Amino acid sequence: WVLMATARSPTNIAVIKYWGKRDETLILPVNGSISVTLEPSHLSATTTVAVSPSFDRDRMWLNGKEILLSGGRYQSCLREIRRRAEDVKDEERGICIKREDWEGLHVHIASFNNFPTAAGLASSAAGFACLGNVTLFMCSFCPCKLMNVKEETTELSSIARQGSGSACRSLYGGFVKWAMGNKEDGSDSIAVQLANETHWEDLVILIAVVCSRQKETSSTTGMRESVETSSLLQYRSQVVVPRRLIQMEEAIQKRDFPSFAKLTCADSNQFHSVCLDTSPPIFYMNDTSHRHVQLCFLIYCIYVHGEIRLIIGLVERWNQFEGTPQVAYTYDAGPNAVLIAPNRKVARLLLQRMLFYFPPPSEKELDSYVLGDTSI
Ligand code: DP6
Repeated sequence: WVLMATARSPTNIAVIKYWGKRDETLILPVNGSISVTLEPSHLSATTTVAVSPSFDRDRMWLNGKEILLSGGRYQSCLREIRRRAEDVKDEERGICIKREDWEGLHVHIASFNNFPTAAGLASSAAGFACLGNVTLFMCSFCPCKLMNVKEETTELSSIARQGSGSACRSLYGGFVKWAMGNKEDGSDSIAVQLANETHWEDLVILIAVVCSRQKETSSTTGMRESVETSSLLQYRSQVVVPRRLIQMEEAIQKRDFPSFAKLTCADSNQFHSVCLDTSPPIFYMNDTSHRHVQLCFLIYCIYVHGEIRLIIGLVERWNQFEGTPQVAYTYDAGPNAVLIAPNRKVARLLLQRMLFYFPPPSEKELDSYVLGDTSI
């Protein structure tokens, strides 16, 4: 027999960044962070987990390709879940798994990202860095369903955290804060929802996907090096971020877009400054700035040939011209630019400006990049 469970998880975009761990095993951050969770139908990972007595080892496939499960993180997620597993019964098929049986049973996990594979994202290292955390998160959620783990979302977020730090924020929709916590065992380093999905419905998030296979430093390695060598990171985590978390929470509660945008851009820029302050320096933005870029809107996807710096320049000039921020940008430890507009009207204007600077796609290309709602 084979028992299966499937679940879907959205990705999240940090507006106050997590960068640096104080404990690498438990994945405890040096500062808190805030993110916005995307709609699952737009950018998510769908994962199916199967269990059968005929499986001789745990295995996992990411977008159809098998990956090694030897990494400590997968193992610690699965260990945590097995530890909490309950009895599972499928009466129709006469299957009964006792909680103590889970230790001896192996799982097969298959995870797919719904992001268009044609965007080059799924196959590139950048794509793995960006979406790997979603997959890791799913690894913890899906087996939970299968093994009948009845935990509070908070508990689940702490399992997900041990898969990949930022993944713990995907447990909730809307705006989410990952509190850094102070306890050594990590029990207070959890994700909490600041506002639900309906709180700021007008926001439009646009994602620029870089189509390249450049060599890059993974978040895990990059942040380890920053913790070891960057004095700016110490200042950021101790002085800047605690203040910004309060300001960002307030901006979100009040739906104050200018403050939200200022903080988002400033935090992204400081995060990349920390990367430059790391020895040897990490050039995430440089890596990406001379590449062929595809702008992939959550609502509408489109090809753009250009440089990411042009996108920042465009947004900064626009904001300066209007005297108040119209659009926010933020970049993670990969080449993808995320642009946030306060509403569809501005998102449409942004799109028009982008099209002015970057050539539009051909009809054929467009066909393969339309994702979700195209009404924008
Ligand atoms: C720049 O969560 O991928 O995206 O915990 O080592 O798996 P690990 O790192 P990861 O780091 C994400 C870093 C970031 C900022 C953020 O999402 O907050």
